[in-house]
Amino acid sequence: MNNLEENIKCKLLEEKEIDEIITKLANEINNDYKDLEPLFIGVLKGCLPFMSDLIKKIKLPCKLDYIRVKSYSGTKSTGNLEIIGNVPEVEGKDVIIVEDIIDTGKTLLEIKKLFVAKKAKSVKVVTFLDKHECRKFEMEADYVGKVIGNHFVVGYGFDLDDYYRNLPYVGIYNQK
Ligand code: IMP
Ligand code: MG
Repeated sequence: MNNLEENIKCKLLEEKEIDEIITKLANEINNDYKDLEPLFIGVLKGCLPFMSDLIKKIKLPCKLDYIRVKSYSGTKSTGNLEIIGNVPEVEGKDVIIVEDIIDTGKTLLEIKKLFVAKKAKSVKVVTFLDKHECRKFEMEADYVGKVIGNHFVVGYGFDLDDYYRNLPYVGIYNQK
């Protein structure tokens, strides 16, 4: 692709494995939300490839919305969460938050609290990856694609300063 890929230590997930994970997650959601109309709310921007692939496998009537947050600078979490722009209308809705990865758990904890306060009927979380050993806040996703170790990952939506999101695979970034 280009020299950005020189900083990728190894591939963590190939396209085929990504597809298998998403099929598994979609099947679980399709079963659990029978007769319901979930509202999928993606956490921008990392959710984009994942959400796009996931919803194509959802067999339910559903709607989509987004929330935009920022918490990382480079490979380090800033610890502060900033909500940028509008918060979706969630009152009375069965919300499924679509997240790329859970690290400390702060992002999802805050977003979940916000949607509960805005009177969502239910709030669940689907995450593509889970760095479970890095958790600092009490936050468990309802649907987890794959648990990974404490690596900084890039590709398939995961970024380093907004680069790498377009890679079709997930790679481990070579942190110096
Ligand atoms: P948390 O609030 O610490 O759980 O951080 C979660 C957010 O940090 C995710 O939504 C990602 O945007 C970002 N993040 C965490 N780990 C990584 C990573 O390994 N690569 C890229 N972004 C990450
Ligand atoms: Mg994110």
